[in-house]
Amino acid sequence: MPRIRVADLLKSKGSSGPVKVSGWVRTLRAGKDVAFIALSDGSTLAPLQVVAESSLPGFAGICRIATGSAVTITGTLRESPAQGQPVELAADNVEVVGSADESYPLQKKRHTFEYLRTIAHLRPRSNTFGAVFRLRSSLAHAVHRFFEERRFLYVHTPIITASDCEGAGEMFRVTTLDPLVPPVIDGAVDFSSDFFAQPASLTVSGQLEGELFAQAFRDIYTFGPTFRAENSNTTRHASEFWMIEPEMAFADLIDDARLAEEFFRYLCRHVLENCAEDMAFFDSQIEKGLLERVRKVADSPFEMMEYSEAIRYLEKAPVPFQFPVSWGLDLQSEHERYITEQIVQGPVFLTNYPKEIKAFYMRQNDDNRTVAAMDLLVPKVGEIIGGSQREERLDLLTLKMNDSGVDTKALWWYLDSRRWGSTPHAGFGLGFERLIMYLTGMENIRDVIPFPRTPRHAEF
Ligand code: 4AD
Ligand code: MG
Repeated sequence: MPRIRVADLLKSKGSSGPVKVSGWVRTLRAGKDVAFIALSDGSTLAPLQVVAESSLPGFAGICRIATGSAVTITGTLRESPAQGQPVELAADNVEVVGSADESYPLQKKRHTFEYLRTIAHLRPRSNTFGAVFRLRSSLAHAVHRFFEERRFLYVHTPIITASDCEGAGEMFRVTTLDPLVPPVIDGAVDFSSDFFAQPASLTVSGQLEGELFAQAFRDIYTFGPTFRAENSNTTRHASEFWMIEPEMAFADLIDDARLAEEFFRYLCRHVLENCAEDMAFFDSQIEKGLLERVRKVADSPFEMMEYSEAIRYLEKAPVPFQFPVSWGLDLQSEHERYITEQIVQGPVFLTNYPKEIKAFYMRQNDDNRTVAAMDLLVPKVGEIIGGSQREERLDLLTLKMNDSGVDTKALWWYLDSRRWGSTPHAGFGLGFERLIMYLTGMENIRDVIPFPRTPRHAEF
């Protein structure tokens, strides 16, 4: 008999012959004449109701099957007399594949997300995390589909790198040197005997290599893990997270914002249309009004505001901020959220930031004070996309790198891309976990990534 998923059984009207289904027992209610098993295999939120009559051989044993056990059940699917489920499975045979006992941590009662984080190896079997990770998987496919439909080339940029894309120095070192006895010359570690014969790290972004590919294929994107050793213990920062980074040659900041908006709204529509059951769950259990909020974003154009204008709003704000506000300072999360939640009340692109607070590769504007940067801010999450038009002029880029202390010798290949056939180009990075937080209403980044890595936490 073929292996059938619970989701497919629940969609069918009933079966003419016997079916076989496997999964884990969510709950079991046993009476004198009948036992009810709620069976889940992760394919859908709702469990399959299995009915085992007392006439079944081994009925007493069935009644003792513990929550969390893995079982395979054969039986006949029939219309269910119970409310809220179209069909149920009348069992002919219940086989325990892997037993569990009462020490199984995911018993019926509702657990806090904090507790579930301590059992990250089991939490995918819970309702909320089942929904989050189904949505995450579906969304990843949608990301690829969006770019495939627009004929963007998918490029796998390296994970181990010798360059710091964001220039912020928040990188994890990759080395095979013995930490107890590293080779030292003149008081400094001699990396020439290290694996790559130079200092190497985990990448913070695939952008620099992405730009090289954009200069050959015009439109490209990367979608992969990125790593940041920033020691910020917030609900929006992870040390390992996934980023989607498109890059377009022959494109400016407006083209970039247009793509970002189209992409973002496409992904909103995707989950509304393709993850309806899980989205309804998030709307009722995680954030009331979520569906309405996501629908509105899918349907309405985004606003655009210059950094300078945002500063004027913030300076006039009738609320106190923890961090100071003035032209030239970077925006903190509280400022971003004030702009997007109170002023715009929806997603907004902030553009043209002061050059001092942005990365070296951003294109200098004619005012000599700002760069062609573009951040997308959204309610609840704050910054969700960071992007820019890139500095394509070799002389200005070299100057900027020298000014910001970026090693022009190490990045000779990046400068080369401005030497022969340089083009105006632009791109952005969307944080995949922040997107999932936005679309599910989940408030901690640790709860939207299967096995979160954060400061002092990488156990599983
Ligand atoms: O603004 P960021 O640092 O931009 C870049 O890395 C550029 N190279 C992107 C590009 O233009 N190709 O990061 C982009 C996005 C942020 O807006 C945020 O959504 C997410 O990545 N992000 C993080 N997400 C989780 N944890 C962290 N520590 C993050 N840091 C950035
Ligand atoms: Mg940023």
